[in-house]
Amino acid sequence: MCGIIGYIGKENPKEFLIEGLKKLEYRGYDSAGIALKNKTETQIIKSVGKISSLEEKVNNEKIIEANIGIAHTRWATHGIPSEVNAHPHKVGKITLVHNGIIENAKELKEELQKENVEFKTTTDTEVIAALMNYYYKDDVKAAIEKTIKRLKGSYALAIICDDCEKLYAIRCESPLILGVKEDGFFVTSDIGAIINHTNKYVLLGENEIVEMDYNNYKITKNGQEIKREINISDLKDKDNNLQGYEHYMMKEIMEEPVLVDNIIRKYKDNLDLLPDLKKYKHIHIVGCGSAYYAGMIGKYLFEDDGIKVEIDVASEYRYRNIIYEKDTLVILISQSGETADTIAAMRKANSNNADTLAIVNVETSTIARECTYKVLIEAGREVAVATTKAFILQVLIISLLSYKIKEDKKYLEDLVKIPQQLKVLLDKSGFYKKLADSIYKHEDVFFIGRRIDYAISMEGSLKLKEVSYIHSDSYQAGELKHGTISLINDGTIVFAIVTDEETHDKTISNLEEVISRGAHPIYVGTEECSYESSIIVPKVHKKLQPLLVVPTLQMIAYYVAYKRGCDIDKPKNLAKSVTVE
Ligand code: F6R
Repeated sequence: MCGIIGYIGKENPKEFLIEGLKKLEYRGYDSAGIALKNKTETQIIKSVGKISSLEEKVNNEKIIEANIGIAHTRWATHGIPSEVNAHPHKVGKITLVHNGIIENAKELKEELQKENVEFKTTTDTEVIAALMNYYYKDDVKAAIEKTIKRLKGSYALAIICDDCEKLYAIRCESPLILGVKEDGFFVTSDIGAIINHTNKYVLLGENEIVEMDYNNYKITKNGQEIKREINISDLKDKDNNLQGYEHYMMKEIMEEPVLVDNIIRKYKDNLDLLPDLKKYKHIHIVGCGSAYYAGMIGKYLFEDDGIKVEIDVASEYRYRNIIYEKDTLVILISQSGETADTIAAMRKANSNNADTLAIVNVETSTIARECTYKVLIEAGREVAVATTKAFILQVLIISLLSYKIKEDKKYLEDLVKIPQQLKVLLDKSGFYKKLADSIYKHEDVFFIGRRIDYAISMEGSLKLKEVSYIHSDSYQAGELKHGTISLINDGTIVFAIVTDEETHDKTISNLEEVISRGAHPIYVGTEECSYESSIIVPKVHKKLQPLLVVPTLQMIAYYVAYKRGCDIDKPKNLAKSVTVE
């Protein structure tokens, strides 16, 4: 949610900032802006819409000679997407960009208005700039320190001041790292934005201020200097390129077989690298969106392994009165590791002395850093807003954790075949395109399934609706007749996910119920069937079955969205990393 990049160094920041914003665009894309600064001037350029509009505007303006710059791509929270509300915000001598939400912005604004401070926007960010400018006399760091003492909420800030040739940054509950280049420094929400220029980075703790000039940086907290090691990222720039694909979503789906194979090779004969869940009597699983659905698959698997499991979406879990029993493990699932609600859930579990396990992609993220244990899914960078490869790898890790609880020979036999089977399934693009042709004009699609098949249905339905904007719902197959069946009309598409042996016949009966009310069925299962439309995948161990079914639904979602002309990698109203509540 909102992407930040800043630079100070020997070069003009313009190119770095625009290139970086393009790589951060997945974090929000309703408006963007940059501020460039030299000794005497600060130039601000903003634009509504995607980074390409900002780039066009920047290219058409006379740009000042500068060595310092900050930039921002926005996902609106306070105030509509507009040029005036876009960042950077400048008040007096302070110019800044912000990712996060200031919960007490209204009170602070009223307080400043009483002091005759004027506001041009409806954003919470302008309030931070105004407050900092209010506190600023001749020491930016002192003004930052005073300001953050007054803020409630989350923030990552990159700050410049008219009076000095320095760049400042600070973070609290929103991501921000420092990038170290031979002849300059970056701050950014995501290492991917600067990986072309440096792979050296420093993690910043909460409320640590980093102050950069052309030669040095210094990190302090409450006036005390803090030494932090420089890390080396192994992120490859290939993760940032389309590599010939038209969309990241397709590129990332196509990466699944290799990534799955890598994880299998790593853990198959080294299960001791994974935490042992056997010692826990209770497991809580928490995540948001797709990560939650990956967790739902985990719930069914771990319950079958004999462990008591509770599952909740993070935005509910954080506000529930949970009784933490002895021997409880809380599993946090998150691709980004920066989802605000999941972070809050993790902190709740940590403060209740439960062990926490992160199943996470981004190694530098808050969740990866603060959990008791972590397992990295090693998906590489996921750029498309709709998750695909990260979901599959989350499920694979869950499946391996479950196998570690209860080992069985058949699982291993099937496990090693998965990458090849997945590849064969993904190679059938013509088949998915044809199926998408029969779906893309519909406005309502239903998914039904039971147990793990229901979790798969939820993910299939989310994928379809988020990228194609077709209304889609998922139901436990037995639940449809308790109300929703009244929505079934002639030709309504119903996907039935039917891989679970024990409930197969029951779900088929539910499918027949909707067919007799006019539905057009799409059977998704492991056995050849007589339905007109079907997706058949190889039958494998039940702990592995979702790894073959979900990718087929991802392909259909992609092709349906393609046929409808949607902005597949950046669906409307969304952002990849949800760093606000
Ligand atoms: C859907 C999707 C989202 C994320 C959710 C959690 O395609 O990508 O539902 O799964 O926002 O994000 P992370 O995994 O980063 O915590």
